[in-house]
Amino acid sequence: GSRLLLLSSPFLFSLLYITEGQTFKWGRCPDPPVQENFDVTKYVGKWYEIEKLPANFEKGICIQANYSLKENGKIKVINQELRSDGTINLIEGEAVQRDGEPAKLSVSFYWAMPSSPYWVLATDYENYSMVYSCTTFIWLFHIEYAWILSRTPQLQSETVERLKNLLRSYKIDTEKIRPTDQMNCPPEM
Ligand SMILES: *[C@@H]1O[C@H](CO)[C@@H](O)[C@H](O)[C@H]1NC(C)=O
Ligand SMILES: *[C@@H]1O[C@H](CO)[C@@H](O)[C@H](O)[C@H]1NC(C)=O
Repeated sequence: GSRLLLLSSPFLFSLLYITEGQTFKWGRCPDPPVQENFDVTKYVGKWYEIEKLPANFEKGICIQANYSLKENGKIKVINQELRSDGTINLIEGEAVQRDGEPAKLSVSFYWAMPSSPYWVLATDYENYSMVYSCTTFIWLFHIEYAWILSRTPQLQSETVERLKNLLRSYKIDTEKIRPTDQMNCPPEM
């Protein structure tokens, strides 16, 4: 949730970079191919975060997203995570699809903030989704995120490996990808 908000702001990003050494690369964002014939009506519903390229400001575990269609054609986004103090943090946002490129979405969490890319690189709708987000700043460098999502709290390791191979084939570095704890979650999640 908040990760997308923060990466929307170059100012906040530079603070994060200085303090924590955020995932950061010279040059512009890569332009990987996305899921063909993406069908958002099959994509909506609940997804569990299985692995991700870390965002230092995203400290929670049990991270989940729930997407649903709105009457205006936009997509409602509800992200939740369990924080270390035991509270569940909920954040609501909105996604829109790019004209003619349905697998390229942008997500925003507050009306005043710029939106962030949410590209579905690959999904079978029923098991997994590989999401990539990259933003170029001042033409010089980019910051990127990637999430492997699953319909269930666990995903077969072969599928995870296949998705990481896909990222590597697009020249996206997977070395820093880390699993998200989905084992120690409260029953209400
Ligand atoms: C997802 O959100 C929609 C719309 O708010 C809601 O109707 C649905 O029950 C939610 N699904 C889950 C699994 O939380
Ligand atoms: C999802 O995974 C299950 C179990 O491996 C498989 O039977 C099913 O065909 C998969 N769904 C799709 C759409 O590929």
